[in-house]
Amino acid sequence: MNVDLKEQLKQHSGLAAIYDEALADIAAAAAEVELGAARVRHLGRKSRLSRLLRAIPEMPASERPLAGKLGNQVRAALEEELVVRWQALESAELEKRLEQERVDITLPGEPLAGGRMHLITQTLWEIEDIFTGLGYRIAEGPEVETDYYNFTALNTPEGHPARSLHDTFFIKGKEGVLLRTHTSPVQVRVMEKEDPPVYVIIPGRVYRRDSDATHTPMFHQVEGLAVDEHITMADLKGTLESFAKAMFGAERQVRLRPHFFPFTEPSVEVDVSCMICGGKGCRSCKHSGWLEILGAGLVDPNVFGFVNYNPDEISGFAFGMGVERIAMLKHGVTDLRMFYDNDLRFIKQF
Ligand code: PHE
Repeated sequence: MNVDLKEQLKQHSGLAAIYDEALADIAAAAAEVELGAARVRHLGRKSRLSRLLRAIPEMPASERPLAGKLGNQVRAALEEELVVRWQALESAELEKRLEQERVDITLPGEPLAGGRMHLITQTLWEIEDIFTGLGYRIAEGPEVETDYYNFTALNTPEGHPARSLHDTFFIKGKEGVLLRTHTSPVQVRVMEKEDPPVYVIIPGRVYRRDSDATHTPMFHQVEGLAVDEHITMADLKGTLESFAKAMFGAERQVRLRPHFFPFTEPSVEVDVSCMICGGKGCRSCKHSGWLEILGAGLVDPNVFGFVNYNPDEISGFAFGMGVERIAMLKHGVTDLRMFYDNDLRFIKQF
C-alpha cells in the first residue's frame, strides 16, 4: 500500500473509498481467477474509478486537477498492487506444490512390466546352446522351398504320399514351390555348399496341414546333421543321449526304435525315459516309461548322391525334433495350441 497516496487521498473521500475497497478485494483474492475478477471490478471500463476519470471533463474547473491527478495515481497504485499480489499467489502455489508433490526417493521403485522370451524361443535357444556346446554350428534356410529340396533331393520322389495336398501347403500359381514341411531341406543346402566334415544344427519354422491338440499348421523344428569319416549309429545315440541329459536331466536314458524316413537308412525314432515318472510308467508316457522326442537315422547314400558327396569316404547321421514337443514334455504343457493363443496368463508362466 502506498502511504503517501493514502495521506493525499484525505483530500478526496470518493477516491479514498474506491482505493480502500479495491485494496481489500485484491488482498482477499485467494487464487488467480479471483484476482482477475477484482481487476475487472476495480479497474475495468465499468468500474467506479474509470467512470470517475471519464467524468472529469464535466466537473467544475476547480475540482478537475485534483481528481485527475489523484485518480491516475490510484489507478497506477492498484495496477502495481495487482502485480504484487499475483506474484505472491504464484509463489504460494509453487510452495504448496513443492510441499505436496515431494518425491520420497527412499521408496522402493515400481516394478517394470518387463517382457520375456516366448517359451518356444527359450526352448530353441536352449537346444542351440546344448549343440553349440558339442561343437555344432547353426545354419538356416528358406521357409518357402522348392519341392526339389523339400522332397526330391531327400530321396522322396514324385508320387510319395508325403507330397500329397493333404500334408503340404503349396504356393498357388508357383509350380513346385511350397512351405517347407521340415527343416531337412537345409541339410541338402548346407552339403551343396560345404565339404565334409559338417556339423550343423538347423532351427526354423515348418508348415503342415495339421491342426489338433498336438499339431499346429506352423511349428518349429531343429534339424541336426553330422557328416564325417566313420560316423556310426553309436555316434548318433551318444550325441542324442548327451542332448537328452542336458535338456531333461542327468538321469535320462535314450532308446532307438526302428522306423522309416526316405532320407535316412537305417531310420529310427528316438525315445527318452519319462521325466515325469522316471521311467516307471505313468499317464504321460502311457505307462511305457518312454516318450518319443525325435526322428533320426544315418544319412541315406542316395542323399549324398544329390550333393556330390562320396558315400564310400564319409557317412553321417541326421535327426529332426519338434521344438513345441520338447517344450511340452519339459514343462508339462498338454495342448500345443496354447503356445499360439497369446493368452498372457499362460505365456507369463515361463
Ligand atoms: N524331417 C523328419 C520329420 O520332419 C525328421 C527327421 C530329420 C528324420 C532328420 C530323420 C532325420 O519328420
